[in-house]
Amino acid sequence: MKIIESTDAAQAHVRERRAKSVLVPTMGALHRGHLELLRVAREHAGKDGEVAVSIFVNPLQFEPGSDFKKYPRPESTDAKFCEDAGVNLLFRPREMYFDDRSVYVEETRLSAGLCGASRPGHFRGVCTVVAKLFNLLAPNAAVFGEKDYQQLAIIRRMVRDLNFPIEVIGVPTVREADGLALSSRNQYLNTDGRAAAPVLYQAMLRVKELAANGENSVTRLIDAARGVIESAKDARIDYISIVDRENLQPLERLRPNAFIALAVFIGKTRLIDNLRLT
Ligand code: PAF
Repeated sequence: MKIIESTDAAQAHVRERRAKSVLVPTMGALHRGHLELLRVAREHAGKDGEVAVSIFVNPLQFEPGSDFKKYPRPESTDAKFCEDAGVNLLFRPREMYFDDRSVYVEETRLSAGLCGASRPGHFRGVCTVVAKLFNLLAPNAAVFGEKDYQQLAIIRRMVRDLNFPIEVIGVPTVREADGLALSSRNQYLNTDGRAAAPVLYQAMLRVKELAANGENSVTRLIDAARGVIESAKDARIDYISIVDRENLQPLERLRPNAFIALAVFIGKTRLIDNLRLT
């Protein structure tokens, strides 16, 4: 596995490369969910293609006072994880931004609700770093998890609107046996928090069950989800929304293509999840 630690070296690498390249952008602290992204990346790259992983804890996507400083950075464990998973290129730049930077990439419609409403500036940070990674590494395709469904939709929109010649591939969420979606942030949970965390999935399953039995009032469905979550110790709801999968607009009545998305604090750890309902 080749390791690149500067943006200049990344550009030299791309100039020399000919084979198909599939990028998995991450912020590190790699886990089983990332392994699935890497499996899908290899499937698309083929055995002679390049699977590239980027690890960069992107300061631009953390709001002031959030967990940027304490975000886990297990550098050597992550490098070994990539090596063992057959990654060809690990890009872990020490720096990505000029001090006097003045250009950002901002999606203005899909970013308005859900996590974008609770985390102002977050998706501008995500789009800016992902656009830079696309320019630096020039992959043919890039793989993202569906757990961050809004992020995936926004990146697809960015690729469409800015004509990046890159295929965006979404990968279904990987869950623990009790339904908790795998996330680097799960490691912040203490024992009680870990026991409470599957409540996100339980709430979504309850809504799916009610929907399957004919309930189509979004207010009543969200109330049902709220009831399940409020029964868990130390759980505080940030948002629960039922939206259209394409435009992420809130719905009043269930219709085809609806999904539920939620963000819940378990203690101090903010977890997100989503599930297709119809
Ligand atoms: O999903 C993530 O890990 C990050 O938001 C991403 C896409 C790597 C951008 O920093």
